[in-house]
Amino acid sequence: MKIKNQIVIVTGGSQGIGFGIAKCFAKRQATLVIVDVDLEKASQAAQKLLRLGAVDTLAVRCDITKRDEVVAMAAAVMKKFRRIDVLVNNAGICPFIEVMEMKPEIWQRTIDVNLTGAFHCTQIVATEMIKMGKGGRMIFITSLAENVTSSGQVDYGASKAGLRMTMVGFCTALGQYGITCNAIAPGMIMTPMTEHHWKQPGPAAEIKSRVPVGRIGTPEDIGHAAVFLASPEAEYISGITVRVDGGHQARCV
Ligand SMILES: NC(=O)c1ccc[n+]([C@@H]2O[C@H](COP(=O)([O-])OP(=O)(O)OC[C@H]3O[C@@H](n4cnc5c(N)ncnc54)[C@H](O)[C@@H]3O)[C@@H](O)[C@H]2O)c1
Repeated sequence: MKIKNQIVIVTGGSQGIGFGIAKCFAKRQATLVIVDVDLEKASQAAQKLLRLGAVDTLAVRCDITKRDEVVAMAAAVMKKFRRIDVLVNNAGICPFIEVMEMKPEIWQRTIDVNLTGAFHCTQIVATEMIKMGKGGRMIFITSLAENVTSSGQVDYGASKAGLRMTMVGFCTALGQYGITCNAIAPGMIMTPMTEHHWKQPGPAAEIKSRVPVGRIGTPEDIGHAAVFLASPEAEYISGITVRVDGGHQARCV
């Protein structure tokens, strides 16, 4: 599967890591579908991607927690482009609330967006890929929190650990159709989700001591890994997590 002219869906692609991933595909002349709850932001992102080299773009308003909206999104992509080659399950939330203070509705929303939303997107897009018979690539954006978490990210860690196993499960189901499934676990990446924290002087200084390569990650660091997993060279890679964290999780002291 070449990157050029591939039809690539990125959920939550309007900003942050999703937009960084979309940029990396656009620079290799893919067609990008930006799926987001915010249509205006998605449309602006789609315009920028055209200027960066995307062959074509489509912005779709879709809340991935709503099955009917995901069905409509996939139908819109099939109507316009006639196929889907790559799905990047990137949309996610992290409320950063201490577990003992967390209301059940907040817990449920994290699970709905980060886990169930990716299930809907993968199952529905895989159905289209299977009908086309040309294989495909599913990429799941998890987190270091698929393995470790903290008291303020228990919902998030639970959703990301579940997302990793969702990826592994779909890998076993879809391999027979030439569809690979892999995850990327980003470390600390500067995005609208996290910048409130990493732009403060204390945490900014902390990065150098916590990340062996000595800097915070960029959305494009994740995009480069996604492009590799979608490339022909990655055809025999399925069911794994690629950690893109500057060595953060390798450090124990
Ligand atoms: N930033 C980090 O340091 C970091 C680290 C590890 C993993 N991640 C993961 O990377 C992904 C992207 O994170 P980010 O930092 O770019 O976040 P972000 O908040 O900057 O962007 C998330 C995007 O997802 C969209 N979105 C949220 N809920 C949605 C829904 N229900 N349906 C459709 N779109 C929805 C938002 O509108 C937004 O455009 C998330 O899955 C996150 O858990 C981020």
